[in-house]
Amino acid sequence: MQIGLDIGRQYVKMVVVEKTREGLKLLNVDSKLIPEKNKSFDPENIDTPLIVMAVKELINRMNLKPKHLRNLTTGISGSNISIKQITTMDMSTDELKTSMMFEARKHMPMDGTDAVIDYQILGPNRFEADKIDVVLVACTNGVRTSHQKLLKEVGLKAEIIDSEPIAIMNAYLQSHQFSEEGAVILLDIGAVSTSLVVWGEQDLFFTRDIPRGTHDLVKDLAKKRSITYLEAQDYLRNEGIAALEVEPAEDSSLIAVTERSSLDIFLEDVRRTLRFYTKNSKQSFFSALFLSGGGGSINGLKEYMEEKLQIKSQAMNPFANMEMKDNSSIEDPSQYTVATGLAVRKGFEA
Ligand SMILES: Nc1ncnc2c1ncn2[C@@H]1O[C@H](COP(=O)(O)OP(=O)(O)OP(=O)(O)O)[C@@H](O)[C@H]1O
Ligand SMILES: [Mg+2]
Repeated sequence: MQIGLDIGRQYVKMVVVEKTREGLKLLNVDSKLIPEKNKSFDPENIDTPLIVMAVKELINRMNLKPKHLRNLTTGISGSNISIKQITTMDMSTDELKTSMMFEARKHMPMDGTDAVIDYQILGPNRFEADKIDVVLVACTNGVRTSHQKLLKEVGLKAEIIDSEPIAIMNAYLQSHQFSEEGAVILLDIGAVSTSLVVWGEQDLFFTRDIPRGTHDLVKDLAKKRSITYLEAQDYLRNEGIAALEVEPAEDSSLIAVTERSSLDIFLEDVRRTLRFYTKNSKQSFFSALFLSGGGGSINGLKEYMEEKLQIKSQAMNPFANMEMKDNSSIEDPSQYTVATGLAVRKGFEA
């Protein structure tokens, strides 16, 4: 049994899988809202006790016992972690470790505590014979300790602490055949932030945390329509992207210059990131875009991205290659992308 626990800032998600001779079997999956129902979500005020309670309730609801949870993998969000593909000289393990520590300090914002690093050698560099490609994952000891403290309060101990962007890529590797040509874009839209991952077998692994999520869309919608946060949240769920695109008629006279919607700003962020990737890698062809996270299910978003970016888009189904326990259908499988990636850890480990 392998368990992936994704503690998001609005929902806790858990996926339990089992290795079988044929591959992987999905044993259990569920999610739970963290804040109290009928209270608007406020990312500035997420109480640790509320998270602890939500995780406990979820474990309970799934008929699991915290004490017996072995092979548990949890993830640290991309906003607290730095992940970079680095090309370096081929060197001994000890040397590489020191060199990676040095790189980590150069790249990541420190909070006064030491850096904790992990890395994985991808293989020889395609262009320079004596060099190797390494993916370096780094966070601060402070971040790791507070994550471990949270788990301890729930009564859990993680075997592996992974990072969300790596989990998203692992979920993709587990569930989809990747094309030889071009890179794929994985976009996991959470409540507070979005992980953008670019992955191609021959290409630079790249990830960036975009500090925008559904919370920004809902806030924007509430303001524009003069409705409450909770009303806006329902509105977005029911109407999808259309709710954000159309300006309400009665307000149009008040807005002198058309304000850019939060969706436009989000799209521009994605565009800018892809331009950066194209400039820094030898790849400018993106074969597909996979949407995941709760925000990935917003109605019409797939079509919107496809039209604006001119890249074939689809919802990620992390369970696509798994045997299911029964014929039960799972609502919005894409929201479990991170949790699945944590549970399966296929591909390279971090
Ligand atoms: N069909 C839908 N339409 C609109 N919004 C949706 C839909 N499905 C889910 N959401 C919203 O997506 C948001 C993000 O869900 P998700 O579980 O990915 O967030 P999270 O992991 O808790 O956040 P973060 O990753 O930022 O910490 C939630 O606010 C949820 O209400
Ligand atoms: Mg999330």
